[in-house]
Amino acid sequence: MNSRIQSILICCIIVKKNDEVGILSGNVYRAPSRGRGIVSTEKKEFIREKTSVSSLNVNGSTTERMRTWTRRMAGVLGRISGRVSQISKKGYNHIQNKFSTFSLKEVSTSKKLVWGSVGLVGTGGVVLLIGLERSVAAEDLVLHPTPLPWSHNGWFQALDHASIRRGYEVYKQVCSACHSMQYMCYRNLVGVSHTEAEAKAEAEEIMVTDGPNDVGEMFQRPGKLSDRFASPYPNEEAARAANNGAYPPDLTYITGARHGGEDYVFALLTGYCDAPAGIVLREGQYFNPYFPGGAISMAQAIYNEVLEYADGTPAYASQVTKDVCTFLKWAAEPEHDTRKEMALKAVVLFSFLISPQRNKLFLRSVVVARENR
Ligand code: HEC
Repeated sequence: MNSRIQSILICCIIVKKNDEVGILSGNVYRAPSRGRGIVSTEKKEFIREKTSVSSLNVNGSTTERMRTWTRRMAGVLGRISGRVSQISKKGYNHIQNKFSTFSLKEVSTSKKLVWGSVGLVGTGGVVLLIGLERSVAAEDLVLHPTPLPWSHNGWFQALDHASIRRGYEVYKQVCSACHSMQYMCYRNLVGVSHTEAEAKAEAEEIMVTDGPNDVGEMFQRPGKLSDRFASPYPNEEAARAANNGAYPPDLTYITGARHGGEDYVFALLTGYCDAPAGIVLREGQYFNPYFPGGAISMAQAIYNEVLEYADGTPAYASQVTKDVCTFLKWAAEPEHDTRKEMALKAVVLFSFLISPQRNKLFLRSVVVARENR
């Protein structure tokens, strides 16, 4: 369908172009005689020679010539589009017939009017929708995060696992003071950022309430691989009470839960600045242009050297933020790497399922594209 419309358009353009230079409408013959009276027979012959295309019917009427040209161009374009879109022989003939007889003149004025107004209304509607959408987006007082060149961007890029490991350190040492990650277990770290022994050691650092034991009492024991990350507060009320009424959200799925994902979290963590004149912050609020409304109840958490990395990476604020964002991205999408690997396999596998005829055409087009380069 697309190629059909394309071909019609190209055809119209060619007809229009040729009309301008006078090949089709025969202006070349009429123009001189109009300007300077009768043109000599030699001159006519000369012009005819210059403008004629070997097998074109020069002597025929204007419409006749136009038809021939249109038909020829339609033939060429039809063949090209026929190859590209694999149109069946029947459909191809049908389209070619349509091209050869197609003319805007045959379309009645009322039809032209109807289609013209449909086009106008349609375009107007789309513009209106975009405008409305934009105006809504412009309403909230918020700076949009810059899209960053993450190493895991792209179809075939995996997450940076060294970064995930450092990000875990950042979460543990900085964010976990206020934020829970209650859907993460220590066993999730195994094979991703930590070895089993390391993950066990991490788990054992926390104390978990377990029980009841054989005398019916709850007891405390060191964490196991199957335990979840410990939450800093026993419940939401306690969390709010400790944070000026604001609830520090659980961070497990935060990159999936906010527009802009890890770009947003990065921008938020590094975006603190002085409030501009006219913005009044309440007690315990800070200004961050990336946070909707600008007033956030989380103080700036990341500074240069806010922690020391075990692997010796210099802990600049941007590095720390990048690492924690990569960690959060993995937490929200633990299937990230597997998904991309599967996609890669699927592309390879499914390419064999495409018909041999298509493959041949595809290869031919690659060869042609290469030759033309
Ligand atoms: C001192 C406590 C504290 C620390 C430490 C802290 N946060 Fe927060 N965080 C909060 C509070 C409180 C909120 C809720 C802010 C609000 O709703 O105004 C919050 C909100 C957030 C939000 C959600 C913003 C939104 O769009 O709703 C993200 C993301 C976040 N913090 C990430 C982090 C990360 C990552 C770290 C560690 C580098 C961290 N926070 C450290 C207290 C903290």
